[in-house]
Amino acid sequence: MAASGGLHTALAKLLPALVLVLQLVSFSSITPAAALSIGVNYGANADNLPPPAQVAAFLKERTFIDRVKLFDANPDMIRAFAGTGISVMITVPNGDIPSLASRSPSRPSPGAVAWVAAHVAPFYPDTNISLVAVGNEILATADRNLIAHLVPAMRSLSAALVAAGFPHIRVSTPHSLGILSTSEPPSVARFRRGYDRAVFAPMLDFHRRTRTPFLVNPYPYFGYSARTLNYALFRPNSGVFDPATGVNYTNMFVAQLDAVHAAMRRLGYGDVEIAVGETGWPSAGDPGQLGVSVEDALSFNGNLIRLVNSGRGTPMMPGRKFETYVFALFNENLKPGPTAERYFGLFNADLSPAYDVGLMRGGGGQPPAPGRKWCVARADASAAALQANIDYACGTGGADCRAIQDGGACFYPSTLLAHASYIMNAYYQAAGRHDFNCDFARTGVLTAVDPSKHPFPLCTRVTIHRFNFPVQWAGRSRFRKLRLDSAVMLDWFVVAGHGSCKFQ
Ligand SMILES: *[C@@H]1O[C@H](CO)[C@@H](O)[C@H](O)[C@H]1NC(C)=O
Ligand SMILES: *[C@@H]1O[C@H](CO)[C@@H](O)[C@H](O)[C@H]1NC(C)=O
Repeated sequence: MAASGGLHTALAKLLPALVLVLQLVSFSSITPAAALSIGVNYGANADNLPPPAQVAAFLKERTFIDRVKLFDANPDMIRAFAGTGISVMITVPNGDIPSLASRSPSRPSPGAVAWVAAHVAPFYPDTNISLVAVGNEILATADRNLIAHLVPAMRSLSAALVAAGFPHIRVSTPHSLGILSTSEPPSVARFRRGYDRAVFAPMLDFHRRTRTPFLVNPYPYFGYSARTLNYALFRPNSGVFDPATGVNYTNMFVAQLDAVHAAMRRLGYGDVEIAVGETGWPSAGDPGQLGVSVEDALSFNGNLIRLVNSGRGTPMMPGRKFETYVFALFNENLKPGPTAERYFGLFNADLSPAYDVGLMRGGGGQPPAPGRKWCVARADASAAALQANIDYACGTGGADCRAIQDGGACFYPSTLLAHASYIMNAYYQAAGRHDFNCDFARTGVLTAVDPSKHPFPLCTRVTIHRFNFPVQWAGRSRFRKLRLDSAVMLDWFVVAGHGSCKFQ
């Protein structure tokens, strides 16, 4: 009794505190969303993206995304963000760098003046161009000419912006983490020998003087193994201990930022701000690939967005926020390489979120109910690829392949394209209708038109609609005069006899 009474009293005392805790928890889960600030890389290596004006309006009205980074200075894209309040980072193409460089550290070259006149002045300040990136990952190109001209080009462009009356537009250049020769544990990190004094010291001096950020592209995605997956994905793990600092790093992204900071501090520039030009994680990959799923992408990007917004900073840079651009805004269907390359996007090409990472205004990652979609084979896919898709879907993929066998409803038209399309769609529908279920090494394509209604060659039924033969014509001698090829004729007879193939 006494014990139970004591428990009740204790509970009664605890209750108000508990309610307070619950309130705090629910508050803290709302407040960060309202104050979220995040950038995205707006790449457009795709043939199915909405026009830039529609993208800009969508980002402004529906999302918390307040910065975009462009990989070039595409005028349509820059103009699309005019009046949106979304700031834009534009990029000088690598090849323009030598012409921008100036011999004088303070006077802009004619090339830099011309670049600003052509690519900045027509748009600014209607479009809030907040930074001009001079090239992309120039040190990684190992091109001596570009590397030698990089810092002079940055100085010259900065002077040209000031001369044009745009002193608030910052200048920087993004680096891959290949600029570090050692990075683990973070405290021992250093810039690659040869570049440290010749390139990074003057570059960091420029950043300090102009109060602009050193821009890096840390990608835990390109550095994880089966053993370090949880460390890369912000999930519980045993950490990487840094004996020099006594810090136990439990996240690779944070460790990478501290490694960059340690290298900068070694040269005497620990005070220079760091911004993240690119980082991200794909939501789909090749069959069997470890660590690429919607859950994994959500864990990385969700935690990343919370971290860079929290103001928590890192062990070496407590209290700092990092201007960050997630790679990427869209899943880009024309990116070459492994499947994952085409699934780095936070959004699908139809503007629906690839997953709910908390960036939609008014909450909810769910798009307005998308229409039905079907997956079909690309018309230009090779026979070998189509056969491989059939083999995969009918084998590991678990699709029911009886319909395309002889006697099945979808045997005709008896072509690889039609059979593969039917089976790829069956797989896509059964696997959960994620866009990546229709990737098939880029030989699949989503369509909003029911393939059962596609013209031949996907489905025979349409052959009838198209040529509009009444069924009772079958067998009449007039047929020959129509000069249809025999495959179509045969299809037509079969359809008349067996009914038609219906895509799920
Ligand atoms: C332009 O963008 C920068 C960086 O995001 C921001 O600080 C500034 O207030 C913006 N300016 C305008 C006029 O919106
Ligand atoms: C680092 O932190 C993890 C997770 O908290 C823990 O499991 C691990 O033992 C720690 N390692 C060291 C060396 O402190």
